[in-house]
Amino acid sequence: MAGKSDNTFYVTTPIYYVNAEPHIGHAYSTIVADTISRFYKLSGCDAFFLTGTDEHGDKVVEAAKKAGETVKSYVDRIAAIFRETWPKLNIANDYFIRTTDENHIETVREILTRVYEKGDIYFSEYEGKYCVGCERFYTDTELVEGKCPIHLSKPTLIKEENYFFRMSKYQGWLIDHIRKNPEFIRPERYRNEVLAFLREPLEDLCISRPKRRLSWGIPLPFDENYVTYVWFDALINYVSALGYPDGDRFKKYWPVAQHIIAKDILKPHGIFWPCMLKAAGIPPYRHLNVHGYWNIDAGKMSKSLGNIVKPMDLSSKYGLDAFRYFLLRDMVFGLDSDFSEQALVTRLNADLANDLGNLVSRSTTMTSTYFDGLLPDPGTLDEEDLSVRDATLKAVDAYRTEMEGFAFHKALIAVWEVIGRLNKYIDTSKPWNLAKTDRERLAAVLHTVTEAIKIVSVLLWPFMPQSAERIQQQLGYNELGLALPLDDIKEWGKIKPSRPISRAPALFPRVKPEEKPEAEAPALVSLEDFQRLDLRIGAIKKAEPIPGSDTLLKLTIDIGETRTIVGGLAEHYTIDELRDRQVVVIANLKPVKLRGIESQGMLLAAVDEAGVFLLRPDKESKPGSPIR
Ligand code: MSP
Repeated sequence: MAGKSDNTFYVTTPIYYVNAEPHIGHAYSTIVADTISRFYKLSGCDAFFLTGTDEHGDKVVEAAKKAGETVKSYVDRIAAIFRETWPKLNIANDYFIRTTDENHIETVREILTRVYEKGDIYFSEYEGKYCVGCERFYTDTELVEGKCPIHLSKPTLIKEENYFFRMSKYQGWLIDHIRKNPEFIRPERYRNEVLAFLREPLEDLCISRPKRRLSWGIPLPFDENYVTYVWFDALINYVSALGYPDGDRFKKYWPVAQHIIAKDILKPHGIFWPCMLKAAGIPPYRHLNVHGYWNIDAGKMSKSLGNIVKPMDLSSKYGLDAFRYFLLRDMVFGLDSDFSEQALVTRLNADLANDLGNLVSRSTTMTSTYFDGLLPDPGTLDEEDLSVRDATLKAVDAYRTEMEGFAFHKALIAVWEVIGRLNKYIDTSKPWNLAKTDRERLAAVLHTVTEAIKIVSVLLWPFMPQSAERIQQQLGYNELGLALPLDDIKEWGKIKPSRPISRAPALFPRVKPEEKPEAEAPALVSLEDFQRLDLRIGAIKKAEPIPGSDTLLKLTIDIGETRTIVGGLAEHYTIDELRDRQVVVIANLKPVKLRGIESQGMLLAAVDEAGVFLLRPDKESKPGSPIR
């Protein structure tokens, strides 16, 4: 909650690494921050919304190298792409921070000095397993089969002298703080995750990198041979952007700070950051709001899989507000969600074009036709009108509670209940008949519907500012958006339109679901078709590398007869792992020549983002056994 008494609100997104361009995951966090910040502004709060870019560290240096640019020109270029993308998505951040900004660098050095002088930073030798992708050391228990659980790559063993932050000292305090403030980290599953982590002794945090290994960073104020570890640098953006320690903004907004992140960076935000703040003598943030991951085709989104979803593509294809609405409606904040364009189209057609779009268009058309666009006085309201009014006003309260709890999908459900109710109310009241029989009832109904739509438009403004403003214009309100604050709409009929109601083109044109090209359609096969496949159990007798190929192996397989099959397994299995392994073979595939070798069949395997996994029978079976 922003806290009614302070009437201020401060929200942040993660600052994004400039090693890639914005994708749907970045867009989601930033649109969430925009929506919540608009909501508080609408509630009359003085709200401040921060986003920005994280520009130091090995990852960024590597990306610049790959792009063939100097690090400076590379970070400038990508940071500009982020900065320019947000306004196109109607994201109205109040400040954009870059960790290469002078004032940020100064603040990092100031906080380091404070913590160092307090005795919470010491020098020591360290040997550890380091993942370049994550920019962090891993303990053995965190590694999965010796590999980084995120990048699935082997970490590098690094031994060096470094500076350490005495994080362990703050473990007890942090546990206590989380216990006493149940909403400090929310939703609860992530609070529990952090508490579970804190059950083990907390290690001190290595916060430096020797300059000879990495020079692209903020030099430590007490040892110029070292630069600051990228996380110690990055987290501080949340206070440096406010002008810590003396800035007015810091004094005003820090006490109500709320961070938004996804689950991938829970540990730095849930553990490092509160301990850093405590050591620096800064009060902890108020809430850490943690959301899940957007998955694509039920798997991870990654450059190597080539399934990056770009926000601008979707927004130009389907409309910005449809995109924003879909993101906030389809993801339950805190849980993972599967992204699909089909789901977006379904939401657009059903919720936006059908429910909301139709409601606005039929009601404004009727007022234009029957009352020349002049909103009629309601006259006496009957029971049904009053019940519609009460349900609408009640939804405002439900919406508020859900928004404050970051339950965006529930806030939207509350609004759509009103929209559904209004459409039904029109259907049963039949204004087109009343126009002929009862002008008084007609006035009451159209007034009620129009007043309720105005409220709906205000509630939707944080999610879909453009459409909400268009609705308000159509309803004859001159001022846009903030002109209709949340508190005022609670008084039914208080704000009156100053212009006639007008007809306007459809708010959300329907989109035809895309027809899939023939080849992609999951065509049904007949049993006969299936039976034409000669599937058999095989046993690999020999696996040999193929000169000149890093991926292919030549396999000699017993399937009741001996076959040679060339398979792309070299990156996934060792020769030893393959020897004598049982597999599933398609034996009647037309032979093909690969690297000069005739491949006489194919092996079945499961393929996902983690690799390729050969199928084999549950129990050892006789080579050549048919599979049915
Ligand atoms: N630079 C650090 C954050 C430092 S904050 C002091 C970083 N950057 S990042 O570019 O990798 O961004 C991570 C964040 O991007 C996630 O926490 C989340 O906000 C967003 N997302 C990235 N991929 C995502 C999904 N697939 N789904 C949802 N959001 C995700 O970590």
